[in-house]
Amino acid sequence: MPSDRITKGIILAAGAGTRLYPSTFPISKILLPVYDRPMVYYPLFTLISAGIRDILIITNGKDRQNFERTLGDGSQFGVRITYEVQHVQRGIADAFIIGEKFTDGGPCVLILGDNIFHGEDLDRLMEEASKDTSNATVFAHWVPDPQRFGVAEFDSSGKVISLEEKPKNPKSNYAVIGLYFLPGDAVGKARTLKPSARGELEITDLNLMYLREGRLKVKTVSDDTVWMDAGTFDSLLDSAKYVKDMEGRRETKILCPEIEALRKGYVTKEQMAAWIEPMKEGDYFRGVAKFMETM
Ligand code: G1P
Repeated sequence: MPSDRITKGIILAAGAGTRLYPSTFPISKILLPVYDRPMVYYPLFTLISAGIRDILIITNGKDRQNFERTLGDGSQFGVRITYEVQHVQRGIADAFIIGEKFTDGGPCVLILGDNIFHGEDLDRLMEEASKDTSNATVFAHWVPDPQRFGVAEFDSSGKVISLEEKPKNPKSNYAVIGLYFLPGDAVGKARTLKPSARGELEITDLNLMYLREGRLKVKTVSDDTVWMDAGTFDSLLDSAKYVKDMEGRRETKILCPEIEALRKGYVTKEQMAAWIEPMKEGDYFRGVAKFMETM
């Protein structure tokens, strides 16, 4: 049944992690720990906090089983998780083609597996984006090094006028973050894309199609929202330190999908208690148990 809001999300977790060799020889980058949990927990948290309960994880062939072992069918979070494999690294926009059956003609959120977000502002923006099922919504964040990203240019009224993937001479400092809310026609559009110079179906090219049709919204995320792309050794360490520091300061777990599932009522306290019972010795699940005492 068509829904008036976006209910499906894809986590793209298929990268080979070449920039993190040899750490990624044994396992996907997206399963490396960021402080006390595998990296994939963070984009999972973001989707759950956006009210997404039907989730497809796209993995590489080698790591599919590792992901399944890590997250299973998602029932411990009160969501449904299924898996698909990206056999050839064809770029981010390929996720929509791989996810065609999953999205079944409907709108969908795509999140990159190594993107970590923290901020209340984003919750509000995601809520707005979820309700707009006929336009594409992406988000921009100020960065000091825009050359590394997709970059959005705005006119004086704040309207987006251009998007460029990893420009040598960026027209602004606003990077497009790895979180895309796209309508149901994204699949058909992705199928018409031609590979870029780096041989990939670029998400920026897909977003450009919406821009040309006047159907792209680029929302600027406030500076208070933290965005980390944990794809390098330094950013991986920085992300881990950030989570540890924030948790120390607040004495509670942050960006925790189990806690978010409890808050949203996707699982009951009793269900979660039964799930974490055999694992309570570890700090992570002790943190979840501590949250449950406050419920
Ligand atoms: C990708 C996208 C880029 C976006 C970035 C966010 O870059 O192509 O537009 O700004 O993710 O993390 P890549 O991961 O390919 O370097």
